[in-house]
Amino acid sequence: GDLDLQAIHDEMVSIAYAAGAMMLEANPQDIDQGTKLNSVDIVTETDQAVEKKVSSRLSAAFPNIAFMGEETYTPGARIGPEPTFVVDPIDGTTNFIHSFPNACISLGLSVEREPVVGVIYNPWQDLLFTGIKGRGAYMTRIKGSTPRQLPLAKTPRGLDGLDSALIAVEWGSSRDGPNFDLKTKVFSKLAASKETGGAMCHSLRSLGSAALNLASVAAGQVDAYWEGGCWAWDVCAGWCILKEAGGMMVSGNPGNWEPALEGRVYLAVRGAPAGQKEFVEEFWGVMGG
Ligand code: IPD
Repeated sequence: GDLDLQAIHDEMVSIAYAAGAMMLEANPQDIDQGTKLNSVDIVTETDQAVEKKVSSRLSAAFPNIAFMGEETYTPGARIGPEPTFVVDPIDGTTNFIHSFPNACISLGLSVEREPVVGVIYNPWQDLLFTGIKGRGAYMTRIKGSTPRQLPLAKTPRGLDGLDSALIAVEWGSSRDGPNFDLKTKVFSKLAASKETGGAMCHSLRSLGSAALNLASVAAGQVDAYWEGGCWAWDVCAGWCILKEAGGMMVSGNPGNWEPALEGRVYLAVRGAPAGQKEFVEEFWGVMGG
């Protein structure tokens, strides 16, 4: 039958606040060694406890909706066309273990492999970002206060090009091989002066969480976000919020305007009255050069 996206959204928000309270109370030092790729791909007991809590609340409320979560993912599993919750219990685990106050829970709903509801909550800043397909995106700073529609600026500036842009990037967890080389090249090209073949963007930022980077693009606080190694749970919620805020998500590799939810390499660009397409093309050009 038809899904009640508003009811699903409301339950996701309630779960996000409960998960946020768990994170604030947790001991970030309780690291589960050895379950991940390498020493910078970290999982804590809190990631696992939050995911367990979230999946049991979601399946109790919506028993017919499938679930994919970072901590219970089995390699090779794909998101199907059926309604699926796509969840990262703690996005920004590295910040979390260092007590750097910027991490969140990211709750997305995918239908036909399209993100249609997104809820992102950073409990350290009591910042909630939400979006529902066709109904806009919102930010609530401090629980109970009036949500503000995204983007935050009433009249967003045009996107004038990379040389006036603030761009979020992340190192992610792969630190060698072709993916590491690609990241290093993109970051230095974006930053370098034009005389040395770069784009000389205003600067680069790393919030340490893919979901919070996407939320910042949606809000218009950074102009774009590029990452070379995301997972569906990193982007599902933020992608919905971004689109509802007038932003666009394309492949971070040149040429693909319609990336899949499991595309891994993404470029997110904020909403603007003009210049989005040109911005993407300039970015892809920098990567190719
Ligand atoms: C990671 C963070 C990080 C990004 C990685 C993600 P996690 O998620 O969002 O900023 O660079 O690609 O996997 O491991 O903290 O849930």
